[in-house]
Amino acid sequence: MNAEHDAKLMDGRALAQRVLAGAADKAARIKAATGVAPGLATVLVGTDPASVVYTRMKRRRCEDAGMRPVRLEFPEGTTTDAVVEAVEALGADAAVHGILVQHPVPRPVDKRAVFEAIPVAKDVDGVTSASLGRTILGMSAFGSCTPAGIMRLLREYAVELDGAYAVVIGRSPILGRPMASMLINAHATVTLCHSRTRSLPTIVRGADVLIAAVGKPEFVQGDWIKPGAVVIDAGYNAGNVGDVDFPAALERCRLITPVPGGVGPMTIATLIDQTADAAAQQLGVINFE
Ligand SMILES: NC(=O)c1ccc[n+]([C@@H]2O[C@H](COP(=O)([O-])OP(=O)(O)OC[C@H]3O[C@@H](n4cnc5c(N)ncnc54)[C@H](OP(=O)(O)O)[C@@H]3O)[C@@H](O)[C@H]2O)c1
Repeated sequence: MNAEHDAKLMDGRALAQRVLAGAADKAARIKAATGVAPGLATVLVGTDPASVVYTRMKRRRCEDAGMRPVRLEFPEGTTTDAVVEAVEALGADAAVHGILVQHPVPRPVDKRAVFEAIPVAKDVDGVTSASLGRTILGMSAFGSCTPAGIMRLLREYAVELDGAYAVVIGRSPILGRPMASMLINAHATVTLCHSRTRSLPTIVRGADVLIAAVGKPEFVQGDWIKPGAVVIDAGYNAGNVGDVDFPAALERCRLITPVPGGVGPMTIATLIDQTADAAAQQLGVINFE
């Protein structure tokens, strides 16, 4: 990569560091005012290696920010009722201010039932239908962390969204759908694409802002990228590969998120920051708005 390429990279790692430092400052102020450290519960079902790593990273970032991690783990094969009951208990626990249920949640657990057991005030990962509904309507809510982190990156790099044409590939409830809503709320014109979309390359070629959230390595081809576009690669596939053919996209784009070091760090930083905000709201001490 040369200097011209370097200038196109959106540094999620650096911004995440600043967000985490801000969250640590919020946590310290909450502790000083109340004597209580914000508490984040991580709920893991099964032993999926990536999920084990993610929950460990989240707990570590939580501790680094002066917050209290609460760890809940269930063996594969646990019933939905047992996990729901545990999440409801966390919901009633005044020392827990945020609840993260690590996904994917393996069968036979009904992931949606578990998500819906999280009280909206503690839904710091933005996974409940109530949080998504509020996000769609532009009401205050904790956003799903990956799209909320992406919005922060776009703001950091002063990407003009008002009137821009944005294309989102992927319609999952935790990524593509809330992403499209957040972009609409920022006055972009949005096309949401998925596996049944026809003429995807033609649609993508019109995008001023492209969000790839497909889960297929190097799925988006370089010649789909409009020259000067902003490319956000939310994909994270085996071998640290994103959903975009990075070298080819780098030649055409104005800005792009690398994988790793783009969207990923922002997801965790957003979770920790939203936990601090949730604690502040529940303890009724500080309004960080
Ligand atoms: N960096 C992070 O923090 C972070 C967090 C979460 C996820 N991710 C990554 O983001 C990616 C997406 O995650 P997800 O949870 O949203 O995945 P998901 O639930 O599997 O959703 C994938 C979406 O891509 C669509 N899709 C699949 N094949 C397609 C095709 N050929 N053309 C157009 N669309 C297609 C699917 O369409 P249908 O709905 O029609 O099936 C679906 O909506 C993954 O790589 C994941 O690892 C990263």
